[in-house]
Amino acid sequence: MTTTATPIAPGLTGRNVLVTGIADRASLALAIAKEVARQGATPICTGLGPGDEDDALSERARDHLRTSFETFCKTVETDLGPDVPRLACNLASDASLARLVETLAERGLEVHGVVHSVAFDRTIRAGESVPLLETPREAFLECMDVSAYSLVALLRELVRGGRLAAGASAVALSYIGAERVVSHPYRNVAVAKAALERIGRELAYELGRSHGARVNVVRFSPYGDSRAGGAIPGLREAVARAEASAPLGNASPEALALEVAHLLHPGNAATGEVRNVDGGLHLLA
Ligand SMILES: NC(=O)c1ccc[n+]([C@@H]2O[C@H](COP(=O)([O-])OP(=O)(O)OC[C@H]3O[C@@H](n4cnc5c(N)ncnc54)[C@H](O)[C@@H]3O)[C@@H](O)[C@H]2O)c1
Repeated sequence: MTTTATPIAPGLTGRNVLVTGIADRASLALAIAKEVARQGATPICTGLGPGDEDDALSERARDHLRTSFETFCKTVETDLGPDVPRLACNLASDASLARLVETLAERGLEVHGVVHSVAFDRTIRAGESVPLLETPREAFLECMDVSAYSLVALLRELVRGGRLAAGASAVALSYIGAERVVSHPYRNVAVAKAALERIGRELAYELGRSHGARVNVVRFSPYGDSRAGGAIPGLREAVARAEASAPLGNASPEALALEVAHLLHPGNAATGEVRNVDGGLHLLA
């Protein structure tokens, strides 16, 4: 006799997940968006793009933002489908965040999940990295703003605009360099990642009490294929070392995406955690 298994509803069915940080096909955020979609959620993707607040920028800088936004839109359309919302948002601009929240309200969208996958550090450029002691105040504050404070600003605007669903879950991406001095320069952004992790814990408390919402951080393996990873001098060598020495080798973006999706599940009660998805790299001295 043949029995038909009862289909199990995918764990994220009916959840809207706001995914920041897709630049192109190599972005970790894209792997996460694909996994949450596979598990039944609707991803809502935001990418860096031009906005009214950029009027003061040079034409070259605006061109760069336009091109970045086009690549983001094309990536989402090709890899996630033409119906997935693609919204421009500069996480370092309160005006841009307010516009994002307005757009969500106009479309009647509440978010049940938030993925923060954004970092920027101008002291890492063209294969070079500036020592922390020589990092100008402006570059330090900009990195802290984009890579850490933006989690506060994003969640605050979602709450203010009534777009964060009760019991929502947010996940931000970090790296072991937040805690340790790693084999390749990570310097300025390491300090911002340390702040991001602490912000995650603080917001887990505040949003847990006020909205029953959860906030967690996942530290991922070194990954050299993305724009952000590829820019870090020595990261590809760190990937090869992790591959050779971590108990499970280097973790893949798909493994990261599974853990992020797990943290976004409505039944999960983990909050204020900093988790490692790195094949066990963090165990090594
Ligand atoms: N690559 C790695 O080795 C690695 C390891 C662990 C964690 N991470 C973290 O994962 C996240 C994603 O990085 P990735 O490796 O996928 O690289 P990526 O370059 O694909 O993603 C970085 C994203 O940040 C966005 N961004 C920068 N400034 C922004 C702003 N002001 N507003 C909105 N978006 C902005 C970029 O447009 C890009 O989409 C980052 O937080 C990164 O630090 C990366």
